[in-house]
Amino acid sequence: MKFASSELRLFIPHSELRIPHSPMSEKLTILVQLDTDPLPSVFDRVVAVDAGVQHLFSYGGVTPAAVMPLVHGCIFTRGSKDLSRTAVFIGGSDVAAGEAVLAEAKKHMIPQYGMSVSLMLDSNGANTTAAAAVRAAGRHLDLGQARTLVLGGTGPVGQRVARLLARHGGHVRIGSRQRDRAEMVCAAIRAQVPNAQVEAASVGSSADGPRALDGRTLVVAAGAAGAVLLPKKVHETAPDLRVAIDLNAVPPAGIEGVEVVDRGRERGGVICYGAIGVGDTKMKAHKAAIAQLFQTNTATLDIEEIYAIALRLP
Ligand SMILES: NC(=O)c1ccc[n+]([C@@H]2O[C@H](COP(=O)([O-])OP(=O)(O)OC[C@H]3O[C@@H](n4cnc5c(N)ncnc54)[C@H](OP(=O)(O)O)[C@@H]3O)[C@@H](O)[C@H]2O)c1
Repeated sequence: MKFASSELRLFIPHSELRIPHSPMSEKLTILVQLDTDPLPSVFDRVVAVDAGVQHLFSYGGVTPAAVMPLVHGCIFTRGSKDLSRTAVFIGGSDVAAGEAVLAEAKKHMIPQYGMSVSLMLDSNGANTTAAAAVRAAGRHLDLGQARTLVLGGTGPVGQRVARLLARHGGHVRIGSRQRDRAEMVCAAIRAQVPNAQVEAASVGSSADGPRALDGRTLVVAAGAAGAVLLPKKVHETAPDLRVAIDLNAVPPAGIEGVEVVDRGRERGGVICYGAIGVGDTKMKAHKAAIAQLFQTNTATLDIEEIYAIALRLP
């Protein structure tokens, strides 16, 4: 799938930030939170409540081996016409573990008999954060033409940012301190996005920065919390740079000179976003995605679907 923003707007049904009130005859909404960490995330629980979920069942330490009875508890309890009132949210700090739980949950749905519930994956906030970052970039650049450097591009957030940008058709350079790791991400994106324009870049030494940034119109820093990935002296001499997005909320900034609260603020001719600056869209996308889960019993909301929801936000 390759997309343009305008197409997404057409095929995604309207969603609200909150689950609409239902007639008395409808079953109460139940969100089943499957968290791969020992303690289910308080953050995800609060967002579920704020999205209007009526009952929240939270399970921690969930592994694929535990998933089948949890899914059966969802799909065998209500008639198929009421299964859109039950949904599953998969979270936790380990994105790969969340992906494994999602894959397992899908296996135990029985859609041919209408026995399925909608699923959403947002481990570590990776999907909602990446979606919010790319939406922010798209407010200022034609993403089909953008030339991007994704720093920290091997992490869960960076990989998702890179994939979304590649789907838009722009050229994406994926930065890593180990070039091999970036090559693996490129290969994974090429497998998912035919004709993706992606290339790996080594950013392990200070001499690499200017090379990696050469010709880039957009830089997204998705490095580990508290790690400086792009010093000011490097990005202020990048003549083509138009937009800089730093997703690290833990000081020091990932892109030196970008403030965590920046939200479309211009600094030296570059439009800047910090982690809190994209956080508002991220939170709205999260709530809207939860609300959308209850519009059907067949949705799977992963990065592309959550991005589509983020694009529809006011
Ligand atoms: N605003 C929000 O709501 C929100 C939500 C979720 C996440 N975040 C932030 O988004 C960022 C990305 O999250 P993530 O979970 O994908 O990050 P991550 O997995 O912790 O790190 C991403 C990449 O950063 C690189 N890295 C690690 N340590 C580094 C260091 N000391 N110096 C330079 N690079 C280093 C690694 O790439 P290589 O080893 O390949 O170089 C790693 O794959 C984080 O800063 C996180 O806090 C923000």
